[in-house]
Amino acid sequence: MVEISSSILSVKEGKETETFFALEQAKVDFFHIDVMDGKFVSKNNYEKMFSYASYIKRISNLPLDVHLMVENVEDAIEEFSALEPNIITFHYEACKDREEVKRIIKLIEEYHIRVGISVKPETPIETIYEFLPYIHSVLIMTVEPGKGGQTLITDMIEKISKLKRYINENDLEVDIEVDGGINLRTAPEVKKAGANILVAGTAILMAKDYKVIVDELRK
Ligand code: DX5
Ligand code: ZN
Repeated sequence: MVEISSSILSVKEGKETETFFALEQAKVDFFHIDVMDGKFVSKNNYEKMFSYASYIKRISNLPLDVHLMVENVEDAIEEFSALEPNIITFHYEACKDREEVKRIIKLIEEYHIRVGISVKPETPIETIYEFLPYIHSVLIMTVEPGKGGQTLITDMIEKISKLKRYINENDLEVDIEVDGGINLRTAPEVKKAGANILVAGTAILMAKDYKVIVDELRK
């Protein structure tokens, strides 16, 4: 069963409350919190995303799927762990070496939070194979991280199926989450390739009826 994680990156200022309630009514599985520090990616929405996530925590029981696009991963984990997210995903490219990747996996686990590693489009999927036995999900960026509303990079479909094959061949239990440019046109191919969690921001937020889109994406 495919799960839908709705990105709140592009939620309209002033319409946050109604949007969050409408997303909950649409039965999304997670709120996808896109945290950007203005260093790892050019946009800085760190404080805004922390306050949105804190607010969502107060008004909804839906789990938080935190996507850290930050250089200082450890500080962000300390701060966002206070919101008891279901999962914290950090970028492989934000780590200087494999020791740091392992240290961060352990740090997130110490908070009893599920661990995700994200890879940018240009990062070969093989680079994270060694960490798969220790994490819960891989977030494959199907666009360059940093902003919403971009078009899915079609080369990423092969990357998804390559990871799916490796997971199956090695009897691993790891979710494949895809993020960026996911909509009614691209969802079928990413699901066919093996993705089981779809992040969608623009495709849902631009719809008149969120539930129609969410149900369609999940099919
Ligand atoms: C981009 C973010 C994505 C994005 C969602 O850096 O990680 O989650 O906001 O993208 P769209 O709007 O294409 O669904
Ligand atoms: Zn994201």
